[in-house]
Amino acid sequence: MTNSRRKKIYEGKAKILYEGPEPGTLIQYFKDDATAFNGEKKATLEGKGVINNRISEYVMTKLGQIGVQNHFIRRLSLREQLIREVEIIPLEVICRNVAAGSLSKRLGLEEGSPLPRSIIEFCLKDDKLNDPLVSEEHITAFNWASTQDIDDIMALTLRVNDFLTGLFLGINITLVDFKIEFGRIWENDFPRIILADEISPDSCRLWDATTNEKLDKDRFRRDLGNVIESYTEVARRLGVMNEMPTVIQGGLH
Ligand code: TMP
Ligand code: ASP
Repeated sequence: MTNSRRKKIYEGKAKILYEGPEPGTLIQYFKDDATAFNGEKKATLEGKGVINNRISEYVMTKLGQIGVQNHFIRRLSLREQLIREVEIIPLEVICRNVAAGSLSKRLGLEEGSPLPRSIIEFCLKDDKLNDPLVSEEHITAFNWASTQDIDDIMALTLRVNDFLTGLFLGINITLVDFKIEFGRIWENDFPRIILADEISPDSCRLWDATTNEKLDKDRFRRDLGNVIESYTEVARRLGVMNEMPTVIQGGLH
């Protein structure tokens, strides 16, 4: 079925969710649109959706193999993947290894300075409020997630961080920080938290480990140029480029 005939469930800034072919599934469509500063800055980056679809598939599959349950089921097309439908927990979970971005600004830390340990932050997923930083107190008081959910989310986030740090270091990339989202599924009436959304250069800070060159969305946020070239480089190093359509492979060098 073409997308025009599918029921749209949700449209975000970089992705669209459509009704899936079976109950409990959705189709996640990756757009070429890029936004920053809560949608203030906008552009279309040709090929981004295709690259992020592949990178997210690769990373989610690897995480699944080490037992980090996530929503990815299978790739459907260049820009689409079949995913499990989850109840999204309205939090953006950020994990940081090196000071950068809003943490550097907030605490006056030089970008690139190592952190004493990995730090997890929570932001409320609410564009109208600009995704404000929130504490565990806010999360439990307003019932966005329970104490048990937070424990599960933090343990899963640290596992994702350990795994991704090693995966990226193996291709000479430093995982500076990343943002992930979680959802709730029900198994025999018991809730379980699983990883959802995407993991891609849109949602991670990835620096070349030798030169510290940025290979992520900061190239767009900060007008550094070569955005797609950098995303392609990440895909190439991960080894997912050889399956990429030639129009994208050829157009980016
Ligand atoms: P920050 O330093 O701007 O708070 O970003 C931390 C990490 O979260 C960084 O890897 C980029 C990612 N991120 C998103 O994926 N979506 C967002 O809306 C923001 C603000 C950051
Ligand atoms: N995703 C956010 C936006 O669309 C910001 C960001 O990634 O920096 O504006």
